[in-house]
Amino acid sequence: MHLLYAFLVLLSLSDGFHPTCPSRCSCDSLQSVQCYRIMEVPSALPSTTKKLYISHSKIPHLQMSSFTRMLALEDFILLASGTESVENDTFKTLSNLKTLELWKNKLRQVPRILPVSLEVLKLNDNSIYVLHGSDFEGLKKLKILELKNNLISSLSPTTLSSLVSLQSLVLDDNNIESVAGPLALPHLKRMSMENNRLHLIPANFFMSLQSLQFLSFSGNFLTEIPINLPKSLLSLKMERNQLKVVSFRDMKHLEHLSHLYLSENSLSSIDGAQILANLTTLELSQNQVRMLPLRLPAKLQKLDISNNLIQRVTAQDFQDLRDLKHLFLDNNIVSLFEAGALQMCSQLSNLALEQNLLLSIPLRLPGTLARLDLKGNAIQDIAERELKDLKKLQVLNLRNNRISALDLKVLEGLPRLRHLYLDGNPWNCTCSLIRAREILKAKGTDVRGGQCAAPAERQGESWMSSKKIMRQCEHHLHLTEKNKETKKKPKPEEHSSIRINIDDDDDDYEID
Ligand SMILES: *[C@@H]1O[C@H](CO)[C@@H](O)[C@H](O)[C@H]1NC(C)=O
Ligand SMILES: *[C@@H]1O[C@H](CO)[C@@H](O)[C@H](O)[C@H]1NC(C)=O
Ligand SMILES: *[C@@H]1O[C@H](CO)[C@@H](O)[C@H](O)[C@H]1NC(C)=O
Repeated sequence: MHLLYAFLVLLSLSDGFHPTCPSRCSCDSLQSVQCYRIMEVPSALPSTTKKLYISHSKIPHLQMSSFTRMLALEDFILLASGTESVENDTFKTLSNLKTLELWKNKLRQVPRILPVSLEVLKLNDNSIYVLHGSDFEGLKKLKILELKNNLISSLSPTTLSSLVSLQSLVLDDNNIESVAGPLALPHLKRMSMENNRLHLIPANFFMSLQSLQFLSFSGNFLTEIPINLPKSLLSLKMERNQLKVVSFRDMKHLEHLSHLYLSENSLSSIDGAQILANLTTLELSQNQVRMLPLRLPAKLQKLDISNNLIQRVTAQDFQDLRDLKHLFLDNNIVSLFEAGALQMCSQLSNLALEQNLLLSIPLRLPGTLARLDLKGNAIQDIAERELKDLKKLQVLNLRNNRISALDLKVLEGLPRLRHLYLDGNPWNCTCSLIRAREILKAKGTDVRGGQCAAPAERQGESWMSSKKIMRQCEHHLHLTEKNKETKKKPKPEEHSSIRINIDDDDDDYEID
């Protein structure tokens, strides 16, 4: 009995569970086989195998004879196995094959004759340099075609004309210099041609792409946003091109467009964007925009205009943006930030103002802020009135400014503060700063304090952890505690705010 049991355990531990599973493979009960480091497609597989996954092997040539018995095969995935060629008709008889993935191999062309049952074809990371008219003939069920990171240099409409069901086409990281239209793919929802060499998209290219929702031409040499974009578009990516201007009037039919990505171009202005009434995300980072546009789309939730040349932020710029949640204005040259400029943005939770030229924390920021980044400005002090309304603030970054002292009242007014970055400032490590440290510790705030710049004998000490300063200030701390007690009747709001600090500890600090 025991012996039999031991035998069964041994059997199940040996390569896979299936009794006829080939070596270096594992087979599971769902007719799925996975093999690693093999030299040829295993010949003794059960004919019921539905899924065959091979990776990190050495199989330079795929032959028809390897597949003749595998009529049940639905998914064949061959990854990183040095495959250079596929014999004509190898897959032709696999009438159940739905998924064919030949990633990271050395194929120079699309395998010849693919079964009409195919729904997913992924040939990413090969050396395919040309697509022939006949490559995809008859693939009426194909939904997903990926040819990322190959050497394809052009795309003609006839190549893809059989693919009447195609929903997703990925041609990123090729050498495509030209495309011709119209591309007749009535069900195509997603098309990506990132990192190619396109200078121009012909005007008729999109004529028969009436279902297209997601389009990316990021990383090309385009100087204009293509005209006649399909009305169905939800997202358009044009990052890393050579756009100097955007004619929003040519885009006014894009009434569903919600995401527009224009970062890393040469735009100096973006006037007219309000015409895109349903836009929620607009990214314009790394351009040369000097002024915030007078009007922006009213439904905007995220605006990224970081790394530009903006100098001023005024209330007028943001008066319509009631839905704005994320505003990135970092890495500009903002020196003027009008008090209350963002008051109308009653949903704003994330404000990035780092690396600008601000001399003080902007006044009357919206009380909805959860995260405020002011790193790398020239702020000299923190005043109570600047931060007192930020009852939801969880993260405050004041690193690398010119602050030397911390007002205790400021800290008591921030009940939800979890992370405070104060390093890189010239701290004057007086005993009152050490008192601030005790308050922060009591609140459970995670603080990066940085080092003392003054007084001379404490220079270089880390004021959040220095035992030396603590000892020197002990007397001082003690005295003030006593003072408070004997003085009696502390201001009521002081009391209540301290209580909030404690009660709030269990709250949800997630920032969305
Ligand atoms: C494979 O098919 C292509 C086109 O269908 C043909 O040109 C080629 O000669 C075939 N190769 C062999 C070895 O039959
Ligand atoms: C605008 O977007 C909303 C959702 O954000 C959607 O319900 C509405 O249909 C869109 N309008 C158009 C014209 O697409
Ligand atoms: C540090 O603070 C003390 C006490 O307020 C003050 O006398 C001193 O001048 C300050 N030192 C510097 C360098 O600001």
